Amino acid sequence: MMMNESRSSTSSPGSGGPLLEVKDLDVCFGARGRSGEVAAVRGVSFGIAPGEILGLIGESGSGKTTVARAVMGLVRSATGSVRFEGREMLGLSERALRKVRRRLHLVFQDPYDSLHPGMRVREIVEEAMKIHRVGDRASREAAISAALEEVDLTPSSRFTGRYPHQLSGGQRQRVAVARAMVLDPALVLADEPTSMLDLSLRSGILEILKRHRDTHGTGYLFITHDLALARHLCDRVAVMLGGRLVELGPTEAVVATPLHPYTRMLLQAVEELAPPSSSRAGYPINDQAQESYATIASGLQEVAPGHYVACYEMSQPTLDRPTTEKEE
Ligand SMILES: Nc1ncnc2c1ncn2[C@@H]1O[C@H](COP(=O)(O)OP(=O)(O)OP(=O)(O)O)[C@@H](O)[C@H]1O
Ligand SMILES: [Mg+2]
Repeated sequence: MMMNESRSSTSSPGSGGPLLEVKDLDVCFGARGRSGEVAAVRGVSFGIAPGEILGLIGESGSGKTTVARAVMGLVRSATGSVRFEGREMLGLSERALRKVRRRLHLVFQDPYDSLHPGMRVREIVEEAMKIHRVGDRASREAAISAALEEVDLTPSSRFTGRYPHQLSGGQRQRVAVARAMVLDPALVLADEPTSMLDLSLRSGILEILKRHRDTHGTGYLFITHDLALARHLCDRVAVMLGGRLVELGPTEAVVATPLHPYTRMLLQAVEELAPPSSSRAGYPINDQAQESYATIASGLQEVAPGHYVACYEMSQPTLDRPTTEKEE
């Protein structure tokens, strides 16, 4: 199920074919060249293999949600290329997108917003199956029970008749995950799915996601501010800053040898909370790699197998920030 060879590249040109391949993605909101223009995503490239969990990390406003929405085909101004299961998503008609979206699911940041307050759990989980005309009533009923059991809402009959306000925050989030899983998507885009939850609830949801990945081979793009959490969950991590990817690599490599100053800063913040174990061992970066990313001004450089870093001035690190509304 795991496709390690695909993991060693920004674009996963593995022999089995990547699940998702994003190349040179640009998203600009507002008229280009006008005041108020926001370059939300700039030249972002990465791949996700089947069964892989890629963490997308970065500060607020760095463009993470915009990447996920562009992958779903929800951002009309996106340019570049987003190939999902080999098919180009950008520029697809709404009708064609609807078909593809059965294989893709977006789990939102806030379960309060995403669960309709007037719908019962049964209807919430069933909705996507109805939209995509999957199964008959009996088979849908069975699928709803199975999905609820899979997220540990057991026995499912206790929950199917409830409205969102009759559930705890953690249970609501589980319903959102069950709804994502019921169509057995190939790729789940999870946008801060645990940020509203406290620590004990979080680990429950994360275990559910991991288990689902292991049993179904689902790929995940897992968006979070939280590097500690990404470290626990993700096979690889991609770090965003100001709309660009600044580092991408196997989680262990990025944690052990963070190369970009921004990644180092993120890690330092985590380690102040929880000091690293003394076993943390990075690899030496050879002089040639040092030199190459000191002199090249843009793009990602591969400095170790599968470990990429954005180039920046070694002498004077400039963390190339975009003009965003928040800063104006
Ligand atoms: N529809 C839109 N119109 C105009 N600007 C937008 C739109 N959506 C996002 N932006 C801007 O694009 C930039 C990236 O936003 P995005 O929501 O992708 O950030 P994020 O990394 O998900 O942040 P957070 O961690 O706070 O969720 C921000 O400056 C935001 O204000
Ligand atoms: Mg966001």
